[in-house]
Formats: sequence, structure tokens, C-alpha cells
Amino acid sequence: MSVTTIQKRNIKSEKDFLPLEGTDYVEFYVGNAKQAAHFYMSAFGFQALAYAGPETGTKDKVSYAVRQHKLTFVLTTPLKPGNEIADHIYKHGDGVKALALKVSDAENAWKETIKRGAKSYIEPYSSKDENGEVIISGIHTYGDTVHLFIERKNYHGVFMPGFIAWGNPYFKPVDTGLQYVDHCVGNVGWNQMNPWVSFYENVMGFRNILSFDDEDISTEYSALMSKVMSNGNGFVKFPINEPAEGKKKSQVEEYLEYYNGEGVQHVALATNNIVETVKELRKRGVEFLQVPTTYYDDLLSRVGQIEEDIHSLKDLGILVDRDDEGYLLQLFTKPVEDRPTVFFEIIQRKGAHSFGKGNFKALFEAIEREQEARGNL
Ligand code: FE2
Repeated sequence: MSVTTIQKRNIKSEKDFLPLEGTDYVEFYVGNAKQAAHFYMSAFGFQALAYAGPETGTKDKVSYAVRQHKLTFVLTTPLKPGNEIADHIYKHGDGVKALALKVSDAENAWKETIKRGAKSYIEPYSSKDENGEVIISGIHTYGDTVHLFIERKNYHGVFMPGFIAWGNPYFKPVDTGLQYVDHCVGNVGWNQMNPWVSFYENVMGFRNILSFDDEDISTEYSALMSKVMSNGNGFVKFPINEPAEGKKKSQVEEYLEYYNGEGVQHVALATNNIVETVKELRKRGVEFLQVPTTYYDDLLSRVGQIEEDIHSLKDLGILVDRDDEGYLLQLFTKPVEDRPTVFFEIIQRKGAHSFGKGNFKALFEAIEREQEARGNL
């Protein structure tokens, strides 16, 4: 039987032992950070922000930070083999290593989560330069992915100690209206969703705000299950997917095979004007999943009145879903590397706090067409 539960937000009354102020940055380990930074700038409209490398005293790796509104990506590449970063790339290809969360007390965040069973990744340490101090700590989550806790209230520099301001006066890409991380989805293995739900509940104090079983998320061929975990103030949301039995291979299984384990499947980026954002992203070569144009034939009867022009949505392939609080518009990119692994979602919320359940079938059928073309369905 299909069961979908929605728990209302902010019903928790006890003190939040892990107060999170949002996503600080997302760090990707990539084969060539210089080119990846250029891609996120030219295709997605990020601005150059900061650089760390041998010239700044970091001998074994380089990192480029790029920013658009409240969204910061860090692209990191090792300079030599035989280290954690090089091994990560060898095993997973380009992927998300760290979901860094902004906190007011990184030492306390580490202590509270370790006390509840988290495995330490980095013990709290202070990093200083002439612009102040950042305190960093970190814990492991699914696969080789980690959460960093970043305390930067006493820091006034461009990004972090060890980084210098970086930019090219001849290259100032126009932004595409991407604002912040809306949610970040992890793919985990068979029967691993509930253990990770418990991890987020017990270790990080998150709540399960939404659940989708395999009947909610299934097509003719394949299925997956998903539970959405949210922190107390709702600033940080981590849906967790696991594959489910279907006639053919689940998209989550294909991910697990090519990523060589569990990891971040997609990062959802919020915009205040999805039509303009997607128009701009398409123009710059970002590729999106294509749903059949018949999706739009009965769209208004499904979702009711919307402010956007339906022809623009159809032209751009933007999907719409409504819940009892409002509606949302969304679209998935194709994977942004050659392995069929990490992709992005572009999302605009107009009251809705859900995740587009009404679009799952159309989107997952679109993913399956891609999977089939790769010979992996
Ligand atoms: Fe999503």
C-alpha cells in the first residue's frame, strides 16, 4: 500500500542540540578543478571567489571557490596520487565530498553529534589568518561523504584562511539567478534508507518530514523509495533514496554502480524566477531531462491556476506540482559528468514545501530513457 506522510514543520519543542544556519558550501572532489570552476562560472553563472593552492601554502591540492548569491561551491583537485582526494576521484569520479553546514559553534556541533554516535572526520580545529578565525569540524555520513561544521562568525575574509581572493577581470559571467541550496539528496544501498534515516534522527536531531514508498516512485520498469530528513528550522533538508525492486534496474542502482558506492545524487538549487534561470542555463549549454510535451496537455487541470505562462514552461521543459500549501516548479539537469551520477535540480517554490511527487513519474521515465540509451536499464 502506498503511504505518504507529511508531518508539519517546527513542531519540535525541545532544544535543538545541532542548530544549523544553512548550507555553508558544497565541496566537489574533481579531476580538474580549474576547468570545473570555469564550467560552473560559464554554464551556471557563478562568480570567482577564492583560490587555495601551492601559491597560498597548500602544497598537495588546489581549491577554487565560486559563488552565486548564497550558493558557494568549492572545487578541489589533488596534485599527486595516493591521498584521500585522489582515491575519492579514482573510485567515484567527480562527486560531492562535503556538505558543509554553517553553525555558530563547530566544536559543540562535533561534540553533540559524536556523543550520539557520529564517526569523526575532522576534530574541531581553528584556522586563522589576518582576517580572523574559522573553526571547522566534521563527521562522516553515507558512503565517503562528510558533513563539515563551519563556524565563521569571527571571520571577515573572502572565504576561509588559506584562500586568497581570486578572479579574472576579463571574465565576469552574468548570474543565472540561482540563490541557495534547497535540498541535497543522497543515494544509499539496498535496505540502507532506514538506517540513515535513524542516523539523521538520532545523531543530528533531524526529523522525517516526508516519505515516499516504491508505489509513489515507480514507473512501469523501476522503482525507488525516499524519505526526506529536515533539521529543526527547515534550512537543511536531506532526502535519502534507496533502490526498490522493479522489472528493470532502478536509477538508484545505476548510480550506485557508477559512483561505486553511496553518495550525493543531486543538489537542488533554488531560484526566484525559474523561467529566466532555465532559459539562461539552456542558452549556456546546460542539458536538462526532457519530458514528453504531452505532460503539458492537462497540466492546468492537475495543478490549477499558476502565474507562469504555460507556453514558456513547455518550451523550457519546466515541471509543476501542487501541494496543500502552494505549488513548485522544477527541472532536473542531466548528469554533469560522464559517469551517470551527480546532477542538479533547479527549483522555485511558490508556497509548496514538498518535492514534486506529481512529477516523479514523468521525471523518472525521462531518466529511464537516458538509462536505456546507456544500456543500463
Ligand atoms: Fe530533489
